[in-house]
Amino acid sequence: MSTPMGRLTAEEIKVLSAKTIDARSLSYSPYSKFRVGAVLVAQDGTHIEGANVENASYGACICAEQTAIVKAVTTGYKQFKAIGVASSSGTYTSPCGICRQVLREFAPNIEIYMFAADGTFVMEPLTAMLPHSFGPEDLDVVPE
Ligand code: THU
Repeated sequence: MSTPMGRLTAEEIKVLSAKTIDARSLSYSPYSKFRVGAVLVAQDGTHIEGANVENASYGACICAEQTAIVKAVTTGYKQFKAIGVASSSGTYTSPCGICRQVLREFAPNIEIYMFAADGTFVMEPLTAMLPHSFGPEDLDVVPE
């Protein structure tokens, strides 16, 4: 993975790193014991936190990034510039395929900051992680 220059300042990345690492504590993950935190950065700079929420019926598990998106959209945020992701593995965790698609709906150009437990990170734009993606335009839909 590469770490191209992103839109966030060094100070913004520092704050995002701390909040994303903290967001792991919101995780409900008694089955996998894999705690994931995600923090979306809306276009106006607002942070929206999420964490994975598991279920005894494993297929019903909800990823941290999806929790964050659902919280954001239902509280009035649909435009994002970045997302932080951190897991209890301690090293960089990249969003799963379904999360990439969910992010793509609202923010095809979002920057994904993957933080290790010590705050170091790698960043990739979603365009690199989900090339040739399918979105609203393919259905001739202009998002609300
Ligand atoms: N998980 C996430 O929260 N985000 C991802 O992008 C990858 C996986 C969660 C789902 C499940 O609760 C646990 O990590 C193990 O897969």
